[in-house]
Amino acid sequence: MHSDDTLTQSFPKKDPETGETLLFVCHGKTCGRSCRFLVDRLEQVRAKGYAVRAERTICMDRCEEGPNVRYGDQIHTHMNPIKVSELAKKVAGKK
Ligand code: FES
Repeated sequence: MHSDDTLTQSFPKKDPETGETLLFVCHGKTCGRSCRFLVDRLEQVRAKGYAVRAERTICMDRCEEGPNVRYGDQIHTHMNPIKVSELAKKVAGKK
């Protein structure tokens, strides 16, 4: 039921203006309970000098595998603050 919205949203790996790496954190009904914790952790990683930014996004239709975080075309499932921190450090360089 969410797929129409999902398909029309694009997920660039970087913000073309700032060059920051973008991680899209699902804010849908199922994943959304964890969204704040994942976004908070990404903000901590950012504060340590990594060029990464969290964006909240709509349901990715993978609710049963959530919480989900998308980087470009890849959906990273079963995320938690530790895993999202490791992902951010891996894909984003230091500022
Ligand atoms: S609520 Fe996150 S994939 Fe559906």
